Amino acid sequence: MLTNKLFHGCGIRLPFLHVRHRTNIARDNKNRKLSNENKTIHDRHLANITVTSFHSQTAIEQLALKPSTRLSPLTMMYIGKTQDNGHLLRSAQYLHKDLPIRFAHRINDFQNLPFVVACNPLLLELHERFIKTFHTLHSFPQINTLEQEKIYTQLLQNTFNSSNDTLSLLAEGFREAKRHIKQEMLVRSFLDRALTSRLAIKMLIEHHIELRKDKPNYIGAICMSFSPKELIESSTRYVQKLCRSTYGMTPNVKIDGHVDSSFPYIITPLSYIVPEMLKNAFRATIEHHKNSNNDLPNVNVTIAVNDDELLLRIRDHGEGMSKSILEKMFNYHFSSNNTLNDSSMISDTDFDDYSYDQFIIRNHNRISGYGFGVPTSRAYCEYLNGSLVYETNLGIGTDVYIRLGLLTSEKRIVRL
Ligand SMILES: Nc1ncnc2c1ncn2[C@@H]1O[C@H](COP(=O)(O)OP(=O)(O)OP(=O)(O)O)[C@@H](O)[C@H]1O
Ligand SMILES: [Mg+2]
Repeated sequence: MLTNKLFHGCGIRLPFLHVRHRTNIARDNKNRKLSNENKTIHDRHLANITVTSFHSQTAIEQLALKPSTRLSPLTMMYIGKTQDNGHLLRSAQYLHKDLPIRFAHRINDFQNLPFVVACNPLLLELHERFIKTFHTLHSFPQINTLEQEKIYTQLLQNTFNSSNDTLSLLAEGFREAKRHIKQEMLVRSFLDRALTSRLAIKMLIEHHIELRKDKPNYIGAICMSFSPKELIESSTRYVQKLCRSTYGMTPNVKIDGHVDSSFPYIITPLSYIVPEMLKNAFRATIEHHKNSNNDLPNVNVTIAVNDDELLLRIRDHGEGMSKSILEKMFNYHFSSNNTLNDSSMISDTDFDDYSYDQFIIRNHNRISGYGFGVPTSRAYCEYLNGSLVYETNLGIGTDVYIRLGLLTSEKRIVRL
């Protein structure tokens, strides 16, 4: 169905496609052995190509030229809740205007991929899904009443629920297409944009949906007293479970620094980043010490919070990294664990006590072993006006510094 769009995106315009289709039809007509049934299916397929290809292409092109309005969570916090539920209406109106723009940007990115990459079936499927989502959201009428807002929220909820496998499709699609890609930067910048935009869209939708609930201590998706220590502890329990089922052993985590700190924050990105970094630290620790008679050394996590940022340092006493690994570790799909089918970090584990945002974790479990943890975490940190930096010494271990702007900071403004 996307064939026309692809040709379009690659600068090969429709006339060429018509020639191809006419050729195909001519060939089909010559082939008298084609059963009537097959022919009907074939004709229907062609009809679909035509319909999809010309459907509202201009709407996508026009919105792709507009910048999205990146909201600051500080603003989202101060808008808060109003008695007459006007906040729900305003929030829905913002999403109604902004989400199609964000999807148009992603579609534009797909159309600018090299032809041979964009033709990958998994990427095609995603591309098509983005187009469908765009049209669904874009064609929703103006929202002027709370009744319309309710229907729109249901639509958002469905969009939210039906995109759980986006990360794994992206990861697998690019892995398959990798051999055709000459420039690593092309993959990196496409995936950085796709993943961070997806994170932001998810957070915005989640925020809107949560605004309807009366959850104590929360304004929408913003937790008003987020405790980094609690997140580290629950992440530790999760990663320890994975380690025990994989290696039969696990290190412990020692948390120090500002352990009592709490502040307003949206947990979603950190609930991806922290377990990812712990997984890497645990794996490095176990692989370096598994044959030693001594106990595994702890992984140390230090929390520091100042007026503008949260800083987490995760220190392991594993092998550390060689220069050649350091050079490649920010590339998507780079992993020193080549056993892709090793379910080491793909969990069949029971997640009942696992409290993170389900959408990230479900996807995350399916992409384990792909070499996505580090580049995705860095992209998330940078999108949120922060950074992810490594210091490593071969034979001593690795320190990871996660820096993120606080939502209340006036100097380091975070925008979704
Ligand atoms: N703390 C660490 N100590 C040693 N090597 C590390 C550490 N963190 C990352 N690495 C190296 O960087 C590579 C990339 O890490 P990344 O988390 O992106 O992928 P992965 O762990 O291999 O797979 P996954 O997608 O499951 O996270 C790892 O395979 C490992 O070689
Ligand atoms: Mg990892």
